[in-house]
Amino acid sequence: MLIDSHAHLDDRRFQRDIDKVLERAKRAGVSKIIHVGFDKQSSVNACKMAEKYENIYAVVGVHPHDAKDLDDDLLEFLYDIARTKKKVVAIGEIGLDYYRNLSPKDLQKKAFVRQIALAKELDMPIVIHDRDAHGDTVKIMQEERAGRVGGILHCFSGSWEMARQCIEMGFYISFAGPITFSNAKRILDVVASTPLDRILVETDCPYLTPEPNRGRRNEPAYVKHVAEKVAEIKGVSFEEIARITTANTKEAFRL
Ligand code: NI
Repeated sequence: MLIDSHAHLDDRRFQRDIDKVLERAKRAGVSKIIHVGFDKQSSVNACKMAEKYENIYAVVGVHPHDAKDLDDDLLEFLYDIARTKKKVVAIGEIGLDYYRNLSPKDLQKKAFVRQIALAKELDMPIVIHDRDAHGDTVKIMQEERAGRVGGILHCFSGSWEMARQCIEMGFYISFAGPITFSNAKRILDVVASTPLDRILVETDCPYLTPEPNRGRRNEPAYVKHVAEKVAEIKGVSFEEIARITTANTKEAFRL
C-alpha cells in the first residue's frame, strides 16, 4: 500500500475521468491521497473531494503564486474551513517560489509567515512549496518556529544540507517525479542521504509525471514509480518503501 502525499485532483485535466483515475490508483495499491489546495477555490474543492471520497484528505492554503490574494478575509476563510470541514489535515501549499515570481517576493514572504501562524493557531502541520528560494524558506521556517507544528517539504529540490536542517526542525521530505528523470543526479544524492523514516512520496499530479510515463498527464497511480526509484536508491525492497512511506505520511499528517 502507498499514499500519494500531494495531488491536485480538481485540475480540469481530471474533469472527465476522475472516477477511473481513482480506480486505477486503488488498483496500483494507493490507499490514500492527500489533495492539496493552492488558492481559495481549490481549497474549497479539496474539502469537497475529501467529503465525497473516503480515502481522500484535504489540505487548504494559498500557494506563493497567489500570495498577493491573501488578505485578512481569505485568512479568516481558511481558518474557518480548516476548523469546521471534515478531513482537513494540514495548511498548504504555502511557501516561496522565486522561479516564477508570480507574486512579489515581499508578499510571498508575508503570506508564508501568516499561514505558518495560522497553522500554529490550528495546531496543524504545513505543506511547504519551495522553488529556487531555499535560503529564505529555511530562514522563515526557523524564525517563525514552524517546527512547533512540523509538516512536509513537498517535491523537495533543495540540497542535503537544507533537508538536514528541515529534518532537524521535525519536518518530512517528500520526493516526486523529478527523481525518476535521467538528469536528476543531484537530487538522487539527497534521497540517498535522507533517513528512511523521514521520506514521503507524491505525484504532484497532474504535473511532473514520473518516468516511464513522462510527457503524459500525471495521476496518483504513478506514485509507485517514485517509490520504486526510492527503493532502488536505498537498496531496499519496494514493499519496504511502501510500508515505511505510508507510515511516515500517516504520522506527518496525523491521519
Ligand atoms: Ni502542488
